[in-house]
Amino acid sequence: MAQLTSDNPILQLEDVRQRYPNGHVGLDGVSFDVATSEVVAIVGPSGCGKSTLLRCVNGLETIAGGSIRLDGQVITGPGVRWELIRQRVGMVFQEYELFPHLDVLGNLLLGPLKVAKEERTEATARALGLLERVGLADRADAWPRQLSGGQKQRVAIIRCLMMRPELLLLDEITASLDPEMVREVLDVVAGLAADGMTMLIVTHEMSFARAVADRVLFMDAGRVIETASPERFFNQPATDRARQFLAMFRFDGPPQRGGAPS
Ligand SMILES: Nc1ncnc2c1ncn2[C@@H]1O[C@H](COP(=O)(O)OP(=O)(O)O)[C@@H](O)[C@H]1O
Ligand SMILES: [Mg+2]
Repeated sequence: MAQLTSDNPILQLEDVRQRYPNGHVGLDGVSFDVATSEVVAIVGPSGCGKSTLLRCVNGLETIAGGSIRLDGQVITGPGVRWELIRQRVGMVFQEYELFPHLDVLGNLLLGPLKVAKEERTEATARALGLLERVGLADRADAWPRQLSGGQKQRVAIIRCLMMRPELLLLDEITASLDPEMVREVLDVVAGLAADGMTMLIVTHEMSFARAVADRVLFMDAGRVIETASPERFFNQPATDRARQFLAMFRFDGPPQRGGAPS
């Protein structure tokens, strides 16, 4: 397998191992680097360890072996201040979790005011700018329950951006959305990619991964078993396991010519 290194890495995983309390091995020796401004798509069958991997990078799981470095600094092991790391590494989950008792602006200001001690006027101006950028300029005073799923995920993304993260982790952020809302969220992510945001993206949206990722990692059973450019991974996967996986997505997308009417 190719050496998974890159120039100017912001994130470096070396032989990362993780085990759940019941003994289940979540990660079985994962190594790769992510370069600054690189977009890496992580794909693979359900249960292969994609979420576990992102959760280890954000300190939500403790690793049992190996190391993770952020901008050269080891962030695994005793004494790590995860509350500081999480300001540098933002994460968005499948289930949007805005604070229900705060309006949209309140959700966006919470981290900057309480954690980063930013000045309110300045943080508010940034929040309004980000809302505008994701097409939600008129929803600053809406309550989370008044938003659609796609709107909530767009707010969840910019809530991360308010902390000016060096790295964004996105874990199947469109998986709970109705189909018509998937695009509006993926468009935001594509915009971030174009702006140079470094991202690790777990997704089942294969055409999106293909369009937006610089590199694809294919995982199976707690390991990265392929790493390739999107062109190569989707056109010529190297392993049978990846071919089987991709075959499940063959009819994803527009109806095939001559295929069954939908
Ligand atoms: N808290 C847990 N305790 C035990 N096993 C878990 C726990 N969370 C996840 N797992 C198992 O670890 C494996 C990887 O899970 P996960 O990282 O969520 O997979 P993916 O995100 O790729 O679908 C799965 O087999 C899952 O059942
Ligand atoms: Mg998962």
